[in-house]
Amino acid sequence: MSITELGRTDGGPAPGGATGQAVHARGLAKTFGGQRAVDGIDLDVRPGEVFGVLGPNGAGKTTMLRMLATLLPIDAGRAKIFGVDVAGDPHVIRQLVGVTGQYASVDENLTARENLWLFSRLQGIAAPRARRIAAELLGQFGLEEAADKAIAHFSGGMRRRLDLAASLISRPPLIFLDEPTTGLDPRTRGQMWDTIRGLVAQGCTVLLTTQYLDEADQLADRVAVIDHGRKVAEGTPDELKTAVGDSTLQLLLAEPDEVPAAAEVVRRVLGVDPVLSPERGRLNVALDQADLAGEVLIAMRTAGVSISSVSVAKPSLDEVFLALTGHGTEEDR
Ligand SMILES: Nc1ncnc2c1ncn2[C@@H]1O[C@H](COP(=O)(O)OP(=O)(O)OP(=O)(O)O)[C@@H](O)[C@H]1O
Ligand SMILES: [Mg+2]
Repeated sequence: MSITELGRTDGGPAPGGATGQAVHARGLAKTFGGQRAVDGIDLDVRPGEVFGVLGPNGAGKTTMLRMLATLLPIDAGRAKIFGVDVAGDPHVIRQLVGVTGQYASVDENLTARENLWLFSRLQGIAAPRARRIAAELLGQFGLEEAADKAIAHFSGGMRRRLDLAASLISRPPLIFLDEPTTGLDPRTRGQMWDTIRGLVAQGCTVLLTTQYLDEADQLADRVAVIDHGRKVAEGTPDELKTAVGDSTLQLLLAEPDEVPAAAEVVRRVLGVDPVLSPERGRLNVALDQADLAGEVLIAMRTAGVSISSVSVAKPSLDEVFLALTGHGTEEDR
């Protein structure tokens, strides 16, 4: 098998004669003990795109992926993957989808090579071919040097890459990545992003979940924001960010008691309300243009509000959330 065979580069027909939208879901729902973890989600993922599902802890991201991957029964609604009904043809769906979990599911006591070999064998691949596939994937994911070490000695980033490699053994045209970089350091995150881009360049369709706006921004063509099991927004990363302005001015006041005065200055200069942080004395201001920050600072000084720290940053997921839902990502959880 060549590297380009992995992850289907040929754009040919998917297994089982599957065609159509990569994912087409309507009214998808799941209830756990009276709680609607997924509460009527519609989703359309086009072939060849990276679709991001953005949401805070407990939003229902993993539950949604697990239903689409046949790992959890669907309570209500319907889903098709490349035209194949998820509930009706689970065995076909399992050939179409590779799943990489939020927590890597590799065996600690085996080496990377043994893990990949074992996963291949479990999928009914003959031993010599399983060996070739393992070697191929170790190379593709930069794991050759560590190939014969026990996973127990692997870093978090290496585990994730191995887990992703394992999900590609069956060459699925659609890959689900559940929070592929949560807990990874910045450099390892960057490597994972490159790996994901590589898969897309080879023709894979990717549905990924994330808690990070920057990750969605870097990778996703389109994003759905979910909260409490419902989709609250959908669009390109740029469209979502526009909802909160191009950038955010973050201010920490020297005197927390001056927050009302500072908020008044912001309203007067920009005509918008600042977002008050739970941290005392901190406020964030959405800016259409980064250079409006200067005018706010000058007006603060004129009004006698003293500031102990200031920065201008891209909007965070928290701010996107606040703008879309009226509450932050940490509330009510
Ligand atoms: N097997 C289960 N039994 C009962 N409740 C569950 C189960 N799985 C998930 N839940 C609940 O469903 C809700 C959604 O959980 P889910 O894991 O899908 O969220 P998530 O968006 O993936 O969050 P995170 O970012 O923390 O991974 C949560 O309130 C969770 O406690
Ligand atoms: Mg999850």
